[in-house]
Amino acid sequence: MSHNLLKGKKGIIFGALDPNSIAWKTAERVHEEGGEFVLTNAPIAMRMGQINDLAEKTGSQIIPADATSEEDLQNLVEKSMEILGGKIDFVLHSIGMSVNVRKGRAYTDQKYDWTQKGTDVSAMSFHKVMQTLYKADAMNEWGSIVALTYMAAQRVFPDYNDMADNKAYLESIARSFGYFFGRDKKVRVNTISQSPTPTTAGQGVKGFDGFISYAEKMSPLGNATALDCANYTITLFSDLTKRVTLQNLYNDGGFSNMGVSDAVMDAFVEKE
Ligand SMILES: NC(=O)c1ccc[n+]([C@@H]2O[C@H](COP(=O)([O-])OP(=O)(O)OC[C@H]3O[C@@H](n4cnc5c(N)ncnc54)[C@H](O)[C@@H]3O)[C@@H](O)[C@H]2O)c1
Repeated sequence: MSHNLLKGKKGIIFGALDPNSIAWKTAERVHEEGGEFVLTNAPIAMRMGQINDLAEKTGSQIIPADATSEEDLQNLVEKSMEILGGKIDFVLHSIGMSVNVRKGRAYTDQKYDWTQKGTDVSAMSFHKVMQTLYKADAMNEWGSIVALTYMAAQRVFPDYNDMADNKAYLESIARSFGYFFGRDKKVRVNTISQSPTPTTAGQGVKGFDGFISYAEKMSPLGNATALDCANYTITLFSDLTKRVTLQNLYNDGGFSNMGVSDAVMDAFVEKE
């Protein structure tokens, strides 16, 4: 259902890899709400080709950019303004990757050049995206920037590995840069802390099936889906949330404030 919440707004969406991606669902919803955007992903992700279907469906152009490359980001921002015919109103940073997770290295046995790569891709890229936009004065006043995160930034989820530290860093960058973006350009910056979601990045985490069903049983409303995340993001891109900034916002069915639920307790009660 469309409410035209983003009519006339222009943006950049990072991270749509396949139809399971949270960014993919967000692009579809932004399109339904009347927003226009440029799609971008790492050049290597382009080779899989699926993003072309999304571009066609949403009438969007694609500009490849490695989010760790300042040069790629400058080109992306410049070209996006040309394509969209002006400054940007919304940006979604939906990027995450840990080499240690991918290669099954434990948190207690990190290969530090992999750790550094993961930090650059998953967290510092958010600073680079914002610094590029800020320096180019590419954001319209009352624009909105959102990045996606996970609660392992606050609580221990052992198998989330070094991504936990990357998410803590990402959330801190959102607050720190959000101050300057708010003060100087009237742009808001927030992170959405999303439930475990079955995507390529999500499923790469060891023990993901246990993770997702535990969260489902703990959350009074159940896990938030990728579509739920897309819908929440739409509200943050819309003019209905103009003074929400520097926040880490939980979209998790209530999980983050739970201690225990009946469903989880039941698994530990001895049956007569
Ligand atoms: N899936 C979950 O359980 C979950 C939960 C909370 C938060 N998140 C976060 O949501 C975001 C999106 O992930 P997703 O679950 O949709 O998975 P996904 O695998 O579909 O998306 C991750 C994206 O990051 C892109 N990427 C990787 N390296 C890049 C680089 N150098 N430059 C540009 N893009 C690059 C990938 O190509 C991919 O499109 C991530 O930040 C993830 O950490 C996911």
